[in-house]
Amino acid sequence: MADKLGSMRRTHTCVDLSKKDVGQEVVLMGWVHRRRDHGGVIFIDFRDRYGLTQIVFNPENNKEVHDRAHILRNEFVLGVKGTVIARPDDMINSNMQTGEIEVMIDELRIFNTAVTLPFQIEDNVDASEATRLSNRHIDLRRPELQKTFIARHKASMAVRNYLDGQNFLDIETPFLTKSTPEGARDYLVPSRVNEGQFYALPQSPQIFKQLLMISGFDRYYQIVRCFRDEDLRADRQPEFTQIDIEMSFAGEDEIMGVAEGLVKKVFKDVIGKEVQTPINRITYKEALDKYGLDKPDMRFELELKDISEIVKTTGFKVFASVVEKGGLVKAINAKGCATFSRKEIDDLTEYVGIYKAKGLAWVKIKEDGSWQSPIAKFFTPEEQALIAEKTDMEVGDIIFFVADNPKVVNESLGNLRNLLAEKMELIDEDLFEFVWVTDFPMFDYDEHEKRYSAIHHPFTAPFEEDYDKLETDPLNINSRAYDLVLNGSEIGGGSIRIHDRAVQERVFAALGLTEDDYKEKFGFLIDALESGAPPHGGIAFGLDRLIMILCKQSSIRDVIAFPKTQKASCLLTAAPSFASTDQLDELSLKVVLDD
Ligand code: AMO
Ligand code: AMP
Repeated sequence: MADKLGSMRRTHTCVDLSKKDVGQEVVLMGWVHRRRDHGGVIFIDFRDRYGLTQIVFNPENNKEVHDRAHILRNEFVLGVKGTVIARPDDMINSNMQTGEIEVMIDELRIFNTAVTLPFQIEDNVDASEATRLSNRHIDLRRPELQKTFIARHKASMAVRNYLDGQNFLDIETPFLTKSTPEGARDYLVPSRVNEGQFYALPQSPQIFKQLLMISGFDRYYQIVRCFRDEDLRADRQPEFTQIDIEMSFAGEDEIMGVAEGLVKKVFKDVIGKEVQTPINRITYKEALDKYGLDKPDMRFELELKDISEIVKTTGFKVFASVVEKGGLVKAINAKGCATFSRKEIDDLTEYVGIYKAKGLAWVKIKEDGSWQSPIAKFFTPEEQALIAEKTDMEVGDIIFFVADNPKVVNESLGNLRNLLAEKMELIDEDLFEFVWVTDFPMFDYDEHEKRYSAIHHPFTAPFEEDYDKLETDPLNINSRAYDLVLNGSEIGGGSIRIHDRAVQERVFAALGLTEDDYKEKFGFLIDALESGAPPHGGIAFGLDRLIMILCKQSSIRDVIAFPKTQKASCLLTAAPSFASTDQLDELSLKVVLDD
């Protein structure tokens, strides 16, 4: 039977003791991390959340306790009482914070035993992610993971302290609510008392935070869960956490100022790093022109160059015809990489294929300055010289080209840019490079659904000078939206909102919603806009993503205590699962599965 706590009380944690405590009687509680039996003397690395302390069972010190210690195995849970002793000089472990001492044990309580676990509690665990997630309670014992959650806690505290100091109020908003459009599918929850009706879990608190501004709260924030049914990736989860912020009577500069103050405080408090502010701003157009993506990684240069003008009349039909049809030809110069093999080039060609590029033309600059390239023959010496100048070609370089519509060219070369930077080892992993991306287009055209969709969300204000285009030229409207990008990842996004009912109705109409549609979906918001709505705007940070970058983790799952897999399931609890017929009947639901 397991020992009881009894009168035993913990006096220290496993990181507290040092040479100054020698001679003191102490009580530690925790887990057996590693056990070594050295000719009769048993040494145990004893672990709790705070660290490790070596404890020793020596028969010469206490035979009875030593005898009992023989049954101890990894992950047994113990309470131990003993005396702190200095380790002999040659036994000092400088890798361990408590490495100068050990505790000689006189009293042992075994609170619990543990079966042999599916993997060892160590940082470089070799178990598969599936095994780790199925046993997440054990996985979370790993010191490296615990460090991440301590950092996450510190970040939340920094956020709360900072925003409290700036007069923001933490106000909760509902989870059982109506659809909030952020571009993903909704998670629906059936209502028992309203037969056949559903709540949607919020994709964000967007509409509620705007209503709070209309209620006069002036400055709101919330560290809040959001739910989005979308395709998952390394930096996306179906439920994730936002630091959600909204401010009244504020323009872009005030909101970005608060956001910058917030990241400054978080970086300082969590990792002691100074973030330089103000953070640079570039427009969406500039981001796409130079880097191909609206979330450019600014840790390296490798800019894309547009050579459309030069090649529009060349003999290379692939390039010329693309430009004629309104497409683009852009290039990227991988300096000094003319050594890339045929296989490497083929791999890169396959990679850009993911983004629908139909090919990846290339030119290597030989020692004598001439071109080695499957497309060299299509260009006159003059054209070659112009391209060389535009792309800064030098001996030993390889330049890659993609010709297609602007979306394909930018996406494929933008992603290739990131891949090349990794391959060329241009990324300093200790850098944190922020950039604001501003002036996003308001709408995109969804070829599949044959209608316009909002790039940010439909409550984002267009620039006033573009209002006239709402009915005539929606694709050429810019919006007052901004994203904060860190090391090539979008960590936050926000906008100035529409606070005028008529403008909001025109935006809904531009999105193809009929008056009946938008009144049914958002009637409460447009009515509220008529009830004295102040000008307002805000931003939301992805807390998980921010922590992921801060803690240098490569997967968002490593910064969420109980994350979901790529298939949106929880391997620990086996959610989602089937509901019983009784439960379904109560909800007036019937499940029909396709074969
Ligand atoms: P947005 O949709 O850009 O804006 O979301 C804000 C930030 O949330 C993070 N994020 C995610 N993180 C993990 N998993 C996901 N599935 C996921 N989706 C988004 C990103 C993103 O920058 N209501 C607006 C904000 C506003 O306008 O104030 C909104 O939700 O880091
Ligand atoms: P081809 O004439 O099809 O053999 O193509 C010659 C070279 O141009 C090959 O290296 C192709 O990968 C490349 N290429 C073909 N189409 C494109 C395109 N749309 N953009 C960039 N390169 C292309």
